[in-house]
Amino acid sequence: MSKQVRKAVLPVAGLGTRFLPVTKTIPKEMLPVLSKPLIQYAVEEALSAGIEEILFVHARGKESIEDYFDYAPDVEIRLQESGKKDVLEEIRAIVPEAGKYAFVRQLNPKGFGHAVLCARAWIGCEPFAVILPDDLVMSDTPAIAQMIEAYDISMGNMPALLNVPKEETNRYGIINPVSSGDHHKLIKAKGIVEKPHPDSTPSSLAVLGRYILHPEIFTALSNQQPGVGGEIQLTDALDAMIPAYGLTGMVIEGHRFDCGSVEGMVAAQVAFSLKEPKLASKVKLLINPWL
Ligand code: G1P
Repeated sequence: MSKQVRKAVLPVAGLGTRFLPVTKTIPKEMLPVLSKPLIQYAVEEALSAGIEEILFVHARGKESIEDYFDYAPDVEIRLQESGKKDVLEEIRAIVPEAGKYAFVRQLNPKGFGHAVLCARAWIGCEPFAVILPDDLVMSDTPAIAQMIEAYDISMGNMPALLNVPKEETNRYGIINPVSSGDHHKLIKAKGIVEKPHPDSTPSSLAVLGRYILHPEIFTALSNQQPGVGGEIQLTDALDAMIPAYGLTGMVIEGHRFDCGSVEGMVAAQVAFSLKEPKLASKVKLLINPWL
């Protein structure tokens, strides 16, 4: 696995409006699939891919994310007293070693690209991973690990790709492919556009929330004017960098759930519960009357 990618940025500043009213007070990244919040799946994916340091770009109202990764003495004492060693270990494993996680606030809600720009000082001059926790991927090899394995800095920027129905292109960044190279999962692009109308989309190859980014992205982002939705879009910076650095998308093996939407979250709950043998039989019994 490439040791070039050691750091991951998790943008968690978004308002989660597609999941109101619960996101009025609970960050969407803290919504659970089974008993774990989405943010933990993202962190586990990063760590299992060999990522050493994680930066959370958060915002006002997202303090519970920071608390989640903090030591919880009252909970630990209670678990110790009641002899629940397994749960105690699970709770302790959430807390990182000193200095491994950092938090920075996005002070203005200027969009996803602007959130990534907030990581500039922390990243410095190395390529890095970006994981959007509300895109949950069920796969044998974690999605970001598949990308780190394939990445070389000469590829420039690398977004993860999935094929979407043409009528849904206006929900994603969409690439304009040149060709798939020797490796059929790696697709070079000559352009990328944010949320194109299905009538004018360059393809149906959509970006899902995983990226390996070249450190020059920060210069490109700092030069970006607001794009779709009046926001600084990462997609526009990726497009601007193509002539000098290139863009190689990677089709990921696995199934992606859009957990920022109610239907995607419900699907993830069902799929993840059916994957756990003990839980699956109970869930099947409980929902049987509705099938
Ligand atoms: C963002 C990106 C978009 C990408 C999507 C993946 O959009 O801007 O290019 O396809 O994440 O989930 P958002 O979902 O924040 O509107």
